[in-house]
Amino acid sequence: MTTLGRNTARRKPPHVLANAPFRKLWTAMSVCSLGDWLNLLALTALAGNLTAGEGYKFQSLAIGGVFVAKMLPAIVLGPLAGVFADRFDRRLTMFFCDLLRFALVLSIPLIGSYQWVIIATFLVECVNLFWVPAKDATVPNLVPKERLEEANQLNLLVTYGTAPIAALLFAVLSVADDALANLVPFLAGRDTYLALFINALAYLVSAVIIFSLKDIPKNHRDAAASTPSVLRQIVEGWRFVGGNRLIRGLIIGMLGAFAAGGAVVGVAKIYVDALGGGDAAYGVVFGAVFVGMASGMFFGIKLLKELSRRRLFGLSIIVAGLVLVAIALVHNLVIVVLLTVLLGACAGIAWIIGYTMIGLEVDDSLRGRTFSFLQSLARVTLLLVVAVAPTLAGLFGRRVIMVGREAVYQFDGSNLVLVIGGLLASIVGIVALLQMDDRKGVPIVSDLISAVRGERFAPEETEQARGMFIAFEGGEGSGKTTQSRLLAIWLRDQGFDVVQTREPGSTKVGMRLRAILLDAVHQGLSARSEALLYAADRAEHVEKVIRPALYRGSMVISDRYVDSSLAYQGAGRALDRADVVRINTWATGGLVPDLTVLIDTPPSIGLARLGGAADRIEAEPLEFHERVRREFRSLAAAEPDRYAVIDGTLPQDQISLLIHDRVRELLPDPVPQESEDVTGTMPAIRD
Ligand code: TYD
Repeated sequence: MTTLGRNTARRKPPHVLANAPFRKLWTAMSVCSLGDWLNLLALTALAGNLTAGEGYKFQSLAIGGVFVAKMLPAIVLGPLAGVFADRFDRRLTMFFCDLLRFALVLSIPLIGSYQWVIIATFLVECVNLFWVPAKDATVPNLVPKERLEEANQLNLLVTYGTAPIAALLFAVLSVADDALANLVPFLAGRDTYLALFINALAYLVSAVIIFSLKDIPKNHRDAAASTPSVLRQIVEGWRFVGGNRLIRGLIIGMLGAFAAGGAVVGVAKIYVDALGGGDAAYGVVFGAVFVGMASGMFFGIKLLKELSRRRLFGLSIIVAGLVLVAIALVHNLVIVVLLTVLLGACAGIAWIIGYTMIGLEVDDSLRGRTFSFLQSLARVTLLLVVAVAPTLAGLFGRRVIMVGREAVYQFDGSNLVLVIGGLLASIVGIVALLQMDDRKGVPIVSDLISAVRGERFAPEETEQARGMFIAFEGGEGSGKTTQSRLLAIWLRDQGFDVVQTREPGSTKVGMRLRAILLDAVHQGLSARSEALLYAADRAEHVEKVIRPALYRGSMVISDRYVDSSLAYQGAGRALDRADVVRINTWATGGLVPDLTVLIDTPPSIGLARLGGAADRIEAEPLEFHERVRREFRSLAAAEPDRYAVIDGTLPQDQISLLIHDRVRELLPDPVPQESEDVTGTMPAIRD
């Protein structure tokens, strides 16, 4: 077995890109993605330039028009195009789509009117709708199932990773254009044309690659039959997302992050113009978002690796929103670019955490749909925001605010949109944080400070217990059950909120474990499994009963706790003490009682007190119980400050008073002495 395992481990499977057909498709995809991003940049810039003479409002609306033209086809034709992709030869579909896109994009600079920009944009998006599902459906045909995830990661990488490259390229092209204009007079002042030519060329290159890809199968009727309708997918996705708190928080947050990014992209052009930057500056701002995203995904996550992922997710969205507000209010291009990198980093952190958590926490059978649901919602959100943002900015127009007598503060529609976007993102971040916070009660600031220092929070620190935890221990028939009940009554009389509990069996699962543990039928239960079952009961007990009560500030009195396992399983069953300590520390998360009351009774007396049939443990021989008693006593002797050892042969009332005296020392507000009660006349606690 071992040899086999080693051999398999050594034979590392080849990288998914070693698969030639997939590599070709991936290359075509990368080229197209680069083209798509260039297209977005060039068209928004072009729309702005073509309408430059018409005033701020018209210009904003014109840019918004480009986004509307990009968004409409997906909403109207989306479901139809998906069905088409399953019916026709996918290779030819993609090939002809590429040729069409090439021709359409090329026609934009050649015709050069705003109307045609909009019409051509609309048509290119329509063609895209057929190309993308054909490509998506092809990937599983080329890549084996187990490599699919890797292939999808690579797809995601080029879809978003080409954006900063496109932004850089666009900035360079804008600068190069001036030099080129000397050679080709047609290009003078038309820097966006150059970008569009390259964009068109990218589609042509893709067409050639796809045409040479003969491995794409022609018939896929099965795929068509098994693809559920888009509507049905959406309904199912909603149902799942709506029913799960964590996923709901994740999706709300991720869409919020996307919307914030969309707001930047939507008004970046006009905002940068207002700041006195040209197309090159626009390219830089656009690129800054993606440079930031990449650094957030790789470095931001590493830097804060000790912080709870769920918290980091919500926090990064809140910060992204605040940064966006700052971007809107600071009128300095350099600072805006720097802040944009920070904004991108926050969005990148949120995006990668969201993706990873969905991957980890959503059941395999639902994961695909959750992702596709998120993708389509993200797309609609992004497009909606980038369409609405410039429109809103245009309607608001340009305003000037007088600060004092002379100073003037420019507050345009684009500023307003960014402020609104930022505030919305922060609100969404707060909602996401509240939905999925896994460290309620721990102040976020201290969590953050220790994360920045690279420290992990100790479990004791996390619960911030305010109540008090008292455990009762002792052998069979020692009277600890009665005493713990009496102490609970006494403390309640003092006005404390008391939770009285016991082990084993104080939770639903615990009750079933108790039945197994104490049933005489299970006589042959192995010592190790006995120890593990008690520890399992305790883990459940601590998490469901003890910690929540302590957190509420209650007094918790437990009849038996970890020491019972040390005494019965450790000493009684002769298991290694260190092992028993270890599993119990793990099970309880290190929770130790503030006080342990040991009612020490010789087993001969205790066992004689018991009535009825003996359970599995009571039925053990006397030596077993002697060992148990010795262990309890030595545990107490080792930590006299944390133990009260009480002679179990004393009268009940006297035992109670001794316990009260000891507990009184621990109470926050000193409770009056009961010296007059030494004779034991305490009606409330008499049995
Ligand atoms: P229970 O009926 O609660 O008896 P008692 O009044 O003596 O507490 O039974 C608990 C039994 O489980 C008891 O015999 C001791 C045993 N036990 C262990 O062996 N290990 C443990 O960790 C715990 C909590 C109990």
